[in-house]
Amino acid sequence: MENLATVARIIEEQRARPGALLPILHEIQDALGYIPPEAVPPIAQALNLSRAEVHGVISYYAHFRQTPPGRHVVRVCCAEACQAVGGEALAEHARARLAGSEVTLEPVYCLGLCACGPSVQVDETTLHAQVTPEKFDALIAELESAS
Ligand code: FES
Repeated sequence: MENLATVARIIEEQRARPGALLPILHEIQDALGYIPPEAVPPIAQALNLSRAEVHGVISYYAHFRQTPPGRHVVRVCCAEACQAVGGEALAEHARARLAGSEVTLEPVYCLGLCACGPSVQVDETTLHAQVTPEKFDALIAELESAS
């Protein structure tokens, strides 16, 4: 399977470095968009860890996806400065708006726009500041109509 060949290549390239687990997981996610469940056994074996340990690290970091992402990924900042200006309500609104949508919602911890939150990132590339629920809905409508 193509995913497993990619996983095997990344493990071989990274396994000798100290603390190889996180770099391996990051590279797999960069290459495949997520960490497929079938990647866990070969990683565990290569690094002499249990599958539970590898799985524990994948689930601990919100950054790692365990299922393929939707066509678009929207990240809502959940760090303190954004939380203080409505970030939590925005995240709640986003969860409800995107339930069942093709757009994947993820938390992120600071996008560097702390002075003008709540902040949102769309598809790695675009940052939006002072996002209200209305502005969020407009962003999503634009994404959905473009796809
Ligand atoms: S706290 Fe949200 S951008 Fe920094």
